[in-house]
Amino acid sequence: MAIVVWDGSLAIGVDIIDTQHRELFRIINSFHDKIGREEDCFALAVVLDSLKNYVHYHFNMEERLLDLSGCPELESHRGAHRAFMVLVERYASQQENVTGAELLKLQSFLIDWLTSHISGEDFRLKDYLTPGPDFQA
Ligand SMILES: [Fe+2]
Repeated sequence: MAIVVWDGSLAIGVDIIDTQHRELFRIINSFHDKIGREEDCFALAVVLDSLKNYVHYHFNMEERLLDLSGCPELESHRGAHRAFMVLVERYASQQENVTGAELLKLQSFLIDWLTSHISGEDFRLKDYLTPGPDFQA
């Protein structure tokens, strides 16, 4: 069952970014499905790895768009992305030693951070995140 549902209130109005945010939510729901199934720790590792890879890909694209549009807040936005990435990478690399309670904490953190980052920072910078006609995804 889904723990977090993407809805129109989280749309920033840039299709390519909204599609990627929806995919992040889909991966978090898949992560949620795997927590608590001890027999399935391999599946949990796979989900955490795909979360890490997709977040990396998505943040990179946002930063490229901010860079191309000359956003004056590129560096602070990049810093927020990095801090989030460090935490996800730490869990992804040590997930076999992480307790169920810590995984639930990670889940809450992922949901809280992403929803507030999307509706706050990404929404505020949406004009800078809009790709030009020549942008290659
Ligand atoms: Fe962002």
